Amino acid sequence: ARIVVLISGSGSNLQALLDACVDPGYGARVVAVGADRDGIAGLDRATAAGVPVFVDPLRSYPSRDEWDRALTAHVAEHQPDLVVSAGFLKLVGPQFLAAFGDRYLNTHNTLLPAFPGIHGPRDALAYGVKLTGATLFFVDAGVDTGPIVAQVAVPVLDDDDEETLTERIKEAERRQLVEQIGRLVREGWTITGRKVTIP
Ligand code: GRF
Repeated sequence: ARIVVLISGSGSNLQALLDACVDPGYGARVVAVGADRDGIAGLDRATAAGVPVFVDPLRSYPSRDEWDRALTAHVAEHQPDLVVSAGFLKLVGPQFLAAFGDRYLNTHNTLLPAFPGIHGPRDALAYGVKLTGATLFFVDAGVDTGPIVAQVAVPVLDDDDEETLTERIKEAERRQLVEQIGRLVREGWTITGRKVTIP
């Protein structure tokens, strides 16, 4: 299966996928990595793995609509079976969802529907939950609202700060991402309403 990964940052989730794809039995390979900004470590990880990259900064386009069109076209060039947002910090638009809405996954660093948005671990800590985690889901038009594929729970420890909690979540998140994407590409999936079925 062909995977395009979208990133905005360090790319540790991307790296976990790149490492998994080295095994032919995994059933997938990362055919391109896209970003919304230059100069991020994740792009270097892609290049080091010999994977082509493209960068589409929102501010390079006259409107969000034109950015959405360009991003959709650049992803489509690589004919992905699956598109994975791994720390991609932009909400895609209607054209992207029309093209890839049945195959666009995102990983979020809380147990949704609790604490959506970009400060998940910080918000979970501030609320005082004792259990949080990571959620893998298919993206829909909302913010962190799409049909859930899998979740993994992670404890909040008494002496956690935002950084220690974020790191503990990311370890579990990477494992879940690799396992579940492997399962999806090997077995296929259907999305019916909010329900994701993997045969
Ligand atoms: C992940 O924890 C994701 O849930 C959050 O950003 C992080 C991405 O990290 N939105 P990385 O770039 O894969 O290291």
